[in-house]
Amino acid sequence: MKTIGCFVILLALFAACSAPVDETERKINDLLSRMTTEEKIGQLFQVSLDNTVDERALQAIREGKMGSVINVVNPAVANTLQKAAVEESRMGIPIIFGRDVIHGFKTLAPIPLGQAASFDPQLIHDCARMSAVEARSVGIHWTFAPMLDIARDARWGRIAEGFGEDPYLTARLGVASIQGFQADGQLADSHALAACAKHFAGYGAAEGGRDYNTSNIPPLLWRNVYLTPFEHAVSAGVATVMVSFNDNDGIPSSSNKELVKTILRDDWHFDGLVVSDWTSMDEMIAHGVAKDLKDVALLSIDAGLDMEMVSPAYLLHLAELVKEGKVPETAIDNAVRNILRIKFRMGLFDRPYTDTSVPPAFYTEESLQLARKAAVESAILLKNDGDLLPLSETQKIAVIGPMADAPHDQLGTWCFDGDKTHTVTPVGALKGEYRHINYIYEPALAYSRDKNTARFDNARRAAAAADVAVVFVGEEAILSGEAHSLSNLNLIGVQSDLLKAVKSAGKPVVLVVMAGRPLTIERDLPCADAVLYNFHPGTMGGPAILDLLFGRANPSGKLPVTVVREAGQIPLYYNHNNTGRPAPDKVTTLDEIPLEAGQTSLGNTSFYLDSGRDPLFPFGYGLSYSSFEYSNLTLPGQMPADGAITIKATITNSSRTDGTEVAQLYVRDMVASVARPVKELKGFQRVWLKAGETKEIAFELTASDLAFFGRDLVRKIEPGEFTVWVGGDSNAQLKGVFSIPK
Ligand code: GLC
Repeated sequence: MKTIGCFVILLALFAACSAPVDETERKINDLLSRMTTEEKIGQLFQVSLDNTVDERALQAIREGKMGSVINVVNPAVANTLQKAAVEESRMGIPIIFGRDVIHGFKTLAPIPLGQAASFDPQLIHDCARMSAVEARSVGIHWTFAPMLDIARDARWGRIAEGFGEDPYLTARLGVASIQGFQADGQLADSHALAACAKHFAGYGAAEGGRDYNTSNIPPLLWRNVYLTPFEHAVSAGVATVMVSFNDNDGIPSSSNKELVKTILRDDWHFDGLVVSDWTSMDEMIAHGVAKDLKDVALLSIDAGLDMEMVSPAYLLHLAELVKEGKVPETAIDNAVRNILRIKFRMGLFDRPYTDTSVPPAFYTEESLQLARKAAVESAILLKNDGDLLPLSETQKIAVIGPMADAPHDQLGTWCFDGDKTHTVTPVGALKGEYRHINYIYEPALAYSRDKNTARFDNARRAAAAADVAVVFVGEEAILSGEAHSLSNLNLIGVQSDLLKAVKSAGKPVVLVVMAGRPLTIERDLPCADAVLYNFHPGTMGGPAILDLLFGRANPSGKLPVTVVREAGQIPLYYNHNNTGRPAPDKVTTLDEIPLEAGQTSLGNTSFYLDSGRDPLFPFGYGLSYSSFEYSNLTLPGQMPADGAITIKATITNSSRTDGTEVAQLYVRDMVASVARPVKELKGFQRVWLKAGETKEIAFELTASDLAFFGRDLVRKIEPGEFTVWVGGDSNAQLKGVFSIPK
């Protein structure tokens, strides 16, 4: 009797679990069966509108010619457009409204590269949640984030928008971001945003770091590095994927069938919607792979793109291609299915309208405190000679530089809806909660590109009259982000000269950088006793930076990207292959070369005569007011082929200051069927330690963490020896070895 009861329960559970999926698919098939070809094609069309009710748009919506709208952020306008779709069109299919809500809607957290420096998935999750709540309140359903492009080239302006150079870190933080946007899998939650894994794929490998340029990623690197974060995003249930502008080895992503159909759909079983990037489909004409829009429509639908962002190829030519028998109607049905599936999962059929009875809650105290916490955790202390920092709140401070009071530029790129009047800058904080600080303010430059040195003497005098000078420099927001590549990564304009002028006053100097990318600041370091680096810290960057400068907070940020000495070193990243001629730790550089040096006297290995082998600061690097010592690494000698091992180490805060350390685990596969990187991040954890405290930390490492794609493009785990390191950056020295037996 008992067995039968259990069976009935299991059957009921199965029925319950399976019903919503079947029910949704049933509804989709029912709609499809009643839609005309034109109405199906209308669902594939995404239009960008402004916040005015456009009669032509309303008419197109009533005719079923618009499946999605982007860039409307007025809920009343959104509801009017939605009414035309739901109540005045034949099929009543709701519109899905999209917007770039990248690092906040109104309350802005640091740019994603800054958030990545926190190595704090929970923080990234919470910032995405905050963004979703604010964005949904104005009728946005879908954000085009997170950007998961691996970026190894700081010349590329969009390095600002991703989580850096490492696939493991990008995957972990990308998943956290998706869960935050999508309300932890509750996509029908009224405060969920459909997330979008973008830009699929290889966009960050643009040749020369020049945006939109060709990438040349070979199949192994594709799978072992660039696709990794996207695969994790799909496994985490990301609702949508956006293809990228670039061609990879001559194939634009908008027509890359292997990428979209074979890998994304067949291998990863993605069942959400794939959207083009902004006119990326049309741009296949410029790429030279399509002769006209009809060709574009054919290539794109064949590659599996469901929705066309703002260009009209599908709308104008798909019906014709079906009539000509060149495109089967089933291809269109599949695209419509993917779009309707997301609309159903978001509950848009049940709740298509935005509740405007409750005014949106922007810049709440809770949001501002989260933005401040994010800015604190995102700041990276790169230098602190003589423990100059933290400063005393009784010291007299000279506050200098164009980024000390730059409410717009502090927000960074992709802050379409952020309101600079809510930005609290460092000077704003000094006028507010830090008004007890005795300071002199001399911007000296009006903005980062300003070349007017007329006020440099004022700056020097201000420094001379103070106990310490804090110089705020970096990049205006416009100098990073989309289409904003730089060939020179030095502090732009005459900011380095300003720093020199301030240093000439003979007082200690703190350099505070706010930028959208890692800049080549080696030449500035001699003028700075301490350096605090912030990737555009967002709305609350000012108070956060002062919290750190005065020790109310202790820096814990770590570099998510390598800081090179010279742009000419690029690409230079930590998880590189060893090559057959790796350079030794000590290499002969320019000034050391003897006259008439023999041809091979400098050693034939891989380095630069002028800038050596190493970067200025390595991936994972960041100082603290505390000091952390690592010891006692222990691990089993062997890992069973299908199992896991636990790697333990001791970490001690040997200072008198409580602090948080991001402990990192790196692994190297010593010998494999293809060359594997000299090390790869395979774990990290934020560890809080009181002054003098010692803790044991543990990392779980599974065999699947060591899997890679081999020559046959099959993912595998190979037996052999592995080295592990545990430490505070990618130059960690505490190491151990284990093996996977044959
Ligand atoms: C842009 C970007 C993409 C963005 C889209 C919509 O060109 O490449 O990241 O989401 O257009 O604004």
